Amino acid sequence: MLYKSIIRPWLFSKDPEQSHDRTLNLLSRLQFLHGPLDRFYRVTDKRLNVQIKSLIFSNPVGLAGGFDKNAVALKTISAFGFGFMELGAVTAQAQPGNPKPRLYRLPEDCALINRLGFNNEGATAIAARLANLRAHGKIPGIPLGINIGRTKIVETKDAVADFLSTFEKLYSHGDFFTLNVSSPNTPNLRDLQGKTLLADLLSAVQEKNRQLAAAAQRQEKPVFVKIAPDIDFAQVDQIIEVVNSFELAGIVATNASAFMRDSLKSPLGREPGGLSGRPITSMVTNFVSHIYKHTGGRLPIIGVGGIFNARDAYDKITAGASAVQIYTGFVYEGPAAVKRINQGLIKLLERDGFRSVGEAVGRAN
Ligand SMILES: Cc1cc2nc3c(=O)[nH]c(=O)nc-3n(C[C@H](O)[C@H](O)[C@H](O)COP(=O)(O)O)c2cc1C
Repeated sequence: MLYKSIIRPWLFSKDPEQSHDRTLNLLSRLQFLHGPLDRFYRVTDKRLNVQIKSLIFSNPVGLAGGFDKNAVALKTISAFGFGFMELGAVTAQAQPGNPKPRLYRLPEDCALINRLGFNNEGATAIAARLANLRAHGKIPGIPLGINIGRTKIVETKDAVADFLSTFEKLYSHGDFFTLNVSSPNTPNLRDLQGKTLLADLLSAVQEKNRQLAAAAQRQEKPVFVKIAPDIDFAQVDQIIEVVNSFELAGIVATNASAFMRDSLKSPLGREPGGLSGRPITSMVTNFVSHIYKHTGGRLPIIGVGGIFNARDAYDKITAGASAVQIYTGFVYEGPAAVKRINQGLIKLLERDGFRSVGEAVGRAN
């Protein structure tokens, strides 16, 4: 209420990227409020617990990649009730991203368009920050994923080494990793969704995963691949084949859309970049459903795209997602978004006679 009537209009009256950065800055200073915020926003109910491989999420709602790229405010953000979160995208080399302006709000469409281009401080600096946060007890108590992208100036032929370098530097800090081969804003990045290049990448990352796990005498860490919604189902099926052959933990579906611009009302709808939010909701749900059906429900899916409320999250879950993530919905709905989604999910599970989120996964197919 307060968010939509006062805070959001104020934030939306300012430049989108500036308000995002200022909000993150404020949140980074509010880490001491973690306890009370968490008590207020967290919904604790064992029907919401989900498990993907070795990961246990206390609820199925996660923060999507790109919100806290440099890991500056993880602990405060986690207190808004998330079950898990991703930081990044992190690239091996620090980079400024694309020229500004590069982030647009489309309020008439409940959407955003971004072409940030992986602006981030780079793997070395972010690893150092995470080490420092850990030393001061400021790592969130929920599973933390690290979203990895390719450095812009690195050519496709050197992409594997670039990903591996980030993976290795951040390995000890992540509970899971998401290989982002689907951002629309890094030239040629999405070529890595092609079968041969993807196989090279996944094979190298999983080999490194085995080595690093053996050295630390622990289990390998779950690795996901995040795909774009701008590919056809034949290509999705090829990706699934590669993902299965290298025993990845699952697929994050999907990133923002580079091409979808149908029936947008906002005058900013022609801006190049990735479209996220309400306009991609059903397109992404169809992707989730396709992956679920094609794999017979055997490959875990994290559904992300256009989730604003419990109904949207439930649609992704019943289409086949074991868990979901939000970004644009969090911007539009505000700090209570995750709490409302979790409370609403419990009601929807009760309505349909499911005893847990897990029981509802894929049931709409
Ligand atoms: C401003 C912005 C920056 C993003 N940066 C990243 C990123 O660095 N890595 C990534 O995998 N996805 C990134 N995304 C995509 C989101 O994680 C998500 O996949 C997409 O926005 C669809 O979800 P939504 O409709 O809930 O926003 C970004 C999205 C936005 C709006």
